[in-house]
Amino acid sequence: MSEIYVIGSMSVDLVTEVKRAPKKGETLLGDRFFMTTGGKGANQAVAAARLGASVHMVGCVGDDEFGKMILDNLIKEQIQVNHVETIPHCTSGTASIMLADQDNSIVVVPGANYKVSVEQVRQVLDEITAEDIVLLQNEIPLEVIEFVINECHKRQLRLVYNPAPFIPLDTELLNKVTYFTPNETEVEELFGTSYKDLLQQYRRQMIVTLGEKGATYFDEEMVTVPAHLQKVVDTTGAGDTFNGALAVAISENMSLSEAVAFGNQAAGLSVTALGAQGGMPHRKDMIECIVQEH
Ligand code: RIB
Ligand code: NA
Repeated sequence: MSEIYVIGSMSVDLVTEVKRAPKKGETLLGDRFFMTTGGKGANQAVAAARLGASVHMVGCVGDDEFGKMILDNLIKEQIQVNHVETIPHCTSGTASIMLADQDNSIVVVPGANYKVSVEQVRQVLDEITAEDIVLLQNEIPLEVIEFVINECHKRQLRLVYNPAPFIPLDTELLNKVTYFTPNETEVEELFGTSYKDLLQQYRRQMIVTLGEKGATYFDEEMVTVPAHLQKVVDTTGAGDTFNGALAVAISENMSLSEAVAFGNQAAGLSVTALGAQGGMPHRKDMIECIVQEH
């Protein structure tokens, strides 16, 4: 059976809801505060596990209360955690999120997420097979990201790479991944040009997420799969839900258009509840996707 290995970050999100972002030097009254589990790696793992995949999380937490909270949550979501290391004398990753009506902003402190090492990952790669999927993002050290991309290519393992948040990276590396899934801004940051100029070059390989406009890629022609629009409560983690769901769909050998529609549907449902993982659908919440094949 196909397994999904998520190599990435785990964090606690410290979320403040506020009407608008404060101006420089200003003190504002917020509406509400809550703490919840997040981190792009853990979010994508939870999304995939809820959709029925067998998921392994690979990464590091600190030896603090947040580390326990993160591990407990992964276990509750039935994610395998034997490749999660607890780093002594280290804080767990955190994300301070300001949820304002029009402009959300996030400050990430990597903490233990930057302790993920090439040695840790090399051991895990030895147990991954050609049926499995590796899912990777940018909240761990760059040298580990480069290593995972190069090794998966060498070992012919299927890799879904979500280049988020943006970090400068040699775009030559992207030729080695099975799929990569930037959003519009990340494409521009990576290549200095619009996704429209690049889709054809990365045919059936680059899937660009466009928020409420859905997601697009190039096959015989440009394909845009519409979003599954729902009432928005909190868009945090929508991209992560897309990626987790996409990996599940690929592991089940859905066609690319079905897989993108599956990702869009899961992402659409995820924004209907607060928190990155709140709202992520379970398999029973998904309706059958009927996609027009080209
Ligand atoms: O993609 C959303 C995630 O990014 C949040 O959960 C937060 O942890 C940030 O890293
Ligand atoms: Na949500």
